[in-house]
Amino acid sequence: MRDISAKHSTLRTASATASLRVQPATLDLVRRGEVPKGDPLEVARVAAVQAAKDTSRIIPYCHPLPLDHISVEFSLGDDRIEVEVSVKVIHKTGVEMEALTAASVAALTLYDMLKMLDDSMEIGNVRLVKKTGGKSDFAHRPAAPVKAAVLVVSDSAAADPGRDESGRLIAGRLEAEGFEVAAFRVVPDKPEQVMEQLKEFADRLQVDLVLTTGGTGLGPRDTTPEATEAVLEREATGIAEALRAYGSQRTPFAVLSRGRAGIRGRTLVVNLPGSSKAVAESLDALFPACLHAVSMLRGGGHPECPVSRKNQL
Ligand code: MTE
Repeated sequence: MRDISAKHSTLRTASATASLRVQPATLDLVRRGEVPKGDPLEVARVAAVQAAKDTSRIIPYCHPLPLDHISVEFSLGDDRIEVEVSVKVIHKTGVEMEALTAASVAALTLYDMLKMLDDSMEIGNVRLVKKTGGKSDFAHRPAAPVKAAVLVVSDSAAADPGRDESGRLIAGRLEAEGFEVAAFRVVPDKPEQVMEQLKEFADRLQVDLVLTTGGTGLGPRDTTPEATEAVLEREATGIAEALRAYGSQRTPFAVLSRGRAGIRGRTLVVNLPGSSKAVAESLDALFPACLHAVSMLRGGGHPECPVSRKNQL
């Protein structure tokens, strides 16, 4: 089973269909409620709901999901019964296997209920109709190249830059996400030096994103948040809170970071905590939203948002 622990929980939906080809005479019995075993549609509906919930027990690599909603609809044609199942969950992985399993089991249950009446039946058209809420819905690349700067705030790394791990981790992840890392600096926990670097990155280099690491805690020399606040023009509190919320699902100590986020000019500045574990988790929390943030800062606004664009279609 894949490790999905780093993924974001989002609203996921999926719809799947299946159909059962039957003799018109069999369908008449269904319509008149004269099937000897009982109402095949209601039995198939219950079977589909149960199957959606049991998908992880049937399909080995499926994660168990706490489903929020399952709907099962039937339509009777001239020579077939169509099944459509829709499933919803707020979780880290999609529900297409739940929808497909439920639609398949509904068709199998209809087959079982009707087999004594009709030996020509055939199940077909088992397919995924729609899926939303996955990574691709939020994949977002700003049109032009994106530039970033990394600022390591640490007395020990400033004394011996070889000790820095977190800054290099950030730079590697930024490059993997398509950023050009235009500057990488290490400064001691001195607010005036942090302020000076942030101003240089935003005003002179005009990078899209600055990520700092370290100095966000409660120690006497942890002053990165204050230095950052002093140069920000507008705060983006949602980003800082999201990092803490995501971190709190991994360690109770995440609340100890006082990191800030906000904007100076067209640059988004985000404080990350200092340890490499905290940095890795914070980066997972920050993407993909920060890519959309960069587009918004460039004046892209919401029409560029992949999800809102999709909803307009
Ligand atoms: N956030 C995440 N996601 N994961 C972590 O392990 N460590 C916390 C917190 N934030 C942590 C985290 C700890 S132990 C501290 S003290 C604060 O970040 C502040 O770290 P800093 O002073 O190095 O910036």
